[in-house]
Amino acid sequence: MNFNEQIDRKDTSSVKWDALRNVYGKHDLHPMWVADMDFRPPAAVTEALKERIEHGLFGYTFIPDHAALSIQEWVSKRHKWKIEKEWLLYSPGVVPALGMAISALTNPGDRVLVQSPVYTPFFNLVKENKRELVNCPLVLIDNQYKIDFDKLDSTLQQDVKLFLLCNPHNPGGRVWTKEELVKIAELCKEHDVILISDEIHSDLIHKPNEHIPVASLSEEYHPFTITCIAPSKTFNLAGLQASSMIIPDPELRKKISQLQKQQGFFTLNIFGIIGMEAAYRHGEEWLEELLIYLKGNIQLVKDYIRESLPKLKVMDPEGGYLVWIDCNETGLSDQEIKERLLNKGKLALEPGTKYGLGGEGFIRMNIACPRSMVKEGLNRLKIALEQ
Ligand SMILES: Cc1ncc(COP(=O)(O)O)c(C=O)c1O
Repeated sequence: MNFNEQIDRKDTSSVKWDALRNVYGKHDLHPMWVADMDFRPPAAVTEALKERIEHGLFGYTFIPDHAALSIQEWVSKRHKWKIEKEWLLYSPGVVPALGMAISALTNPGDRVLVQSPVYTPFFNLVKENKRELVNCPLVLIDNQYKIDFDKLDSTLQQDVKLFLLCNPHNPGGRVWTKEELVKIAELCKEHDVILISDEIHSDLIHKPNEHIPVASLSEEYHPFTITCIAPSKTFNLAGLQASSMIIPDPELRKKISQLQKQQGFFTLNIFGIIGMEAAYRHGEEWLEELLIYLKGNIQLVKDYIRESLPKLKVMDPEGGYLVWIDCNETGLSDQEIKERLLNKGKLALEPGTKYGLGGEGFIRMNIACPRSMVKEGLNRLKIALEQ
């Protein structure tokens, strides 16, 4: 796979490329914001989709057992977790799945815990569902996020019903360790809290880190855990809108599936089903190549910033392709950073403030693009922030 190839995505209704004016008020920006990749997916995915297009019929389609099996085999092979077909429910995306979980498993006014800074929809979903948002912020130690377990323990005791965990963490790229996950799960068990683990970035792990699905750690965790996974980040298939929820507990599963029935949701889009299965069955080699390429891009960012923008601090991501950069030492305000990025650098990055408390003074750069585009982005970052 040639990850260096620059593919023109303009005028394809790509959010990253074509929604710049709507979001930033300008169209001439170098886009390194939305978390998708500027790479083609594995050829097997495109081939499988083409084959179905050539067949030419797009009627009602169910999710066949072989598609479910491809998910089971992927999770077993990549994450050493044997899951049953019956545990799977589907959703057009992980965000809708999180929304379904909040809606089906809690009541209006119930308390839902998040750990900021974290992926923006975590906050929005809680608020839109009229639940009470409880934040137990992550702690920054030696340029890495850690969990304050004493605080988590005391906060969970305060009538929290559901915990939205982001593993690997967006935006910080932490891949939570076994020790951390056991502590989280034990606290949830003790305080009777449902744990929803968003593991959408879990296939994008940089060695020697290792992703562990929290629910795989013990069958004792099954009664209160839901794990959300998808091929969308891994294989760049977000537009196909296919994701899975792994729910070993029949009671939890019944509640989510009841909500799906109420909403009239029964199956995924035909192309989502086909793309997902092809990716899980045939995409592993491509993924291994991708991970090497992403690692090269991350190294480039680290080297460039160390040499050319020494006041900035890069958080080395243990997983994913999002680089979280601390600009606090520049002394610039978030507003100044934003203006400089837009007007001087002409660079679209995500402002850290979008991720809640703790995101102040940070920016998030998506490096899942050809290396030449990463270089261009870094040059623009320098123009923007140089003092
Ligand atoms: C942690 C996390 N969850 C969910 C999503 C999006 O999920 P989906 O597109 O499947 O709704 C993202 C996308 O960036 C993400 O970072």
